[in-house]
Amino acid sequence: MVRGMGKRPSARVIAVGGGKGGVGKSIIASNLAIAMAQAGNRVILVDADLGAANLHTLFGVDGPRTSIQTLLEHEVDTLEAATTPTAVRNLRLVAGMGAVPGAANINHAQKQKVLRHIRSLDADVVVVDVGAGVSYNVLDFFDLARLRLVVMTPQLTSVQNAYSFTKAAVLRALRHAASDPGEVSLLEASTSTRETARVEALLAKVRAESPAFATRLEKVLSGFGAQIVGNQVFEAKDAGIFHAISRMMGDFLSIRAPVLGHVRASRRVHDSVTRRRPLLVDDPGDECARAFHRMAEALLLAEVDEPMRPAVAVAGERDGARPDDGQTDEELPAEPGLYMRRHERHPVSWTARLEGPGGGAYVQVREVSLGGAGIEANEPLPVAVGDERTLVFDDLPDRPALPGVVRYVNARHSRVGLEFLCEGELPARIVADARH
Ligand SMILES: Nc1ncnc2c1ncn2[C@@H]1O[C@H](COP(=O)(O)OP(=O)(O)OP(=O)(O)O)[C@@H](O)[C@H]1O
Ligand SMILES: [Mg+2]
Repeated sequence: MVRGMGKRPSARVIAVGGGKGGVGKSIIASNLAIAMAQAGNRVILVDADLGAANLHTLFGVDGPRTSIQTLLEHEVDTLEAATTPTAVRNLRLVAGMGAVPGAANINHAQKQKVLRHIRSLDADVVVVDVGAGVSYNVLDFFDLARLRLVVMTPQLTSVQNAYSFTKAAVLRALRHAASDPGEVSLLEASTSTRETARVEALLAKVRAESPAFATRLEKVLSGFGAQIVGNQVFEAKDAGIFHAISRMMGDFLSIRAPVLGHVRASRRVHDSVTRRRPLLVDDPGDECARAFHRMAEALLLAEVDEPMRPAVAVAGERDGARPDDGQTDEELPAEPGLYMRRHERHPVSWTARLEGPGGGAYVQVREVSLGGAGIEANEPLPVAVGDERTLVFDDLPDRPALPGVVRYVNARHSRVGLEFLCEGELPARIVADARH
């Protein structure tokens, strides 16, 4: 990106959301902000939770003199002037609405103003805690960032909420990409048929009418930048659900949402709230602290290729209203168990043949594990879930052939997950080849 002379580079903006209340969004946002500040970055943590701003409480700041509200009430000209120092060097806090007495709800113009000011904050990193729910306000603060963390616990209700929240955020981001009323109505027409379980199906409809718009939407999806953060994990094996949801988001929402990491349920984290000193202020160096530092490092290294988009006002909508499909108790689009894998997966790029009763097709093997393989084809594959097929690994010595059963197929039938029907030497040999 070419920047104008004298114009400072924009901050790395990281939004933290997740739908459900109480899952730990504020704990995650504050400790990640601290870890990045401790690594020498100038960090500003923004409490954009318009319902229940409480980041200042987590930092032991009583009655902050300035907040988002101070900006809206014209007491200060910039959001920078509304920051409050914290006990952590390099970390400043923008307290939220309600942190000072007399809070009011935020209207459309005020929201645009806050979004604009967050975008122009002078910092290396800006972390935005967007609060709970899926109102347009929450989604628009989430859509501000190119790195978006979806926080969830392993509990099914939290996972469902986080999935619905992410879906609402994806649809909102697509909506923001519409540049004229024609595109808005095309998107609405493609969404309103309730066939939104798979974003790919929605895209196909848009593509049929406007290939150029569909290409832009694909770009929004590929640059969506979501990452999953698991919280309140009691046992390591419970973290499998985060990977399952990540794969499900890939399949149904057409976004990459890798698992950034997870934080254990910990007495120390719990007590840090009561003591009003975030865990990393005292940095116990325990497993949770290490998890925060690891995630912070990954976030600082994450590539963010797309410049931030200007805010787009969506015409004709009531502010703060819930999107129709934003109900947070929506069921998951598939059984998470199907997306669970017992074995470590290894990325590969092999050519193979998928053989069945109707003949064979050439495919690319993208990943293998002891339990199965993920394959892709340029043409739709004539398979359905439950079909038995044999995968012949043409690229490997002796061309091993493994029988398997189809466990998932994407909407275009171009990506297929195959579970091997045999165990032992053959899958072990294939995994050994993948490791080399
Ligand atoms: N890893 C953890 N271990 C133990 N307790 C935790 C952990 N994470 C969060 N908690 C507990 O959960 C409570 C809620 O966390 P937090 O305030 O961060 O949630 P939230 O998602 O921001 O909620 P809200 O939507 O209401 O803003 C904390 O006060 C703390 O007691
Ligand atoms: Mg919170």
